[in-house]
Amino acid sequence: MKHKIIISPSILSADFAVLADEIKQVESAGCDWIHVDVMDGHFVPNLTIGPTVIKSIRKCTKLPLDVHLMIEEPVDWIADYVSAGSDLITVHVEACKDVRQTLEKIRELGKRPGVSVRPKTWIEEAVPFLGFVDLVLIMTVEPGFGGQKFMPESVGKIRSLRQMGFEGHISVDGGINAETARLALEAGADVLVAGNAIFGNSDRKAAVKSLKPS
Ligand code: DX5
Ligand code: ZN
Repeated sequence: MKHKIIISPSILSADFAVLADEIKQVESAGCDWIHVDVMDGHFVPNLTIGPTVIKSIRKCTKLPLDVHLMIEEPVDWIADYVSAGSDLITVHVEACKDVRQTLEKIRELGKRPGVSVRPKTWIEEAVPFLGFVDLVLIMTVEPGFGGQKFMPESVGKIRSLRQMGFEGHISVDGGINAETARLALEAGADVLVAGNAIFGNSDRKAAVKSLKPS
């Protein structure tokens, strides 16, 4: 199955003081989704934004909001992220007491569930949940911060998922640039999350183009 390549810029690398402009720029540069990193200072050693800011972001773009929850025990927060305007909601397998219940809650509320694994987590941990998700997000850096170096050892997880017959979206997140995007796409990923590669380049169109194979 051939997937269309989806570019999901991570606003963690954007200038939050002018977030609406940053989002408009990546939208007109041809990006497909907006990746929103939610961090709680517990599951990861960094703190970002929550539903209030997502509600404001929702008003400045029509693109799907690809919300990556790096928070401990997200189940009780799902309803808030749904009403804030998220479209895809990804939770970490390591952060949920009951992963399946959390994914089912996202689906029941009409949104698209995703599951993510940290670099050190075996992909087998996510396998029992493949039937409940639209997306698997493979972390290619330790979650917490933008601008880190891509870990090539994570690429094998993408290949394994495709070999298992998983046909949903496979997203890669962390250290994605022209070169590492190639590795991830070749292995079977179709969603490229990129922070620095897009927001660190004043020519947003050129940045997006460089991620897509010619
Ligand atoms: C890290 C986040 C990523 C990150 C990507 O925990 O999930 O979305 O911001 O940024 P770059 O592309 O700069 O690695
Ligand atoms: Zn992310």
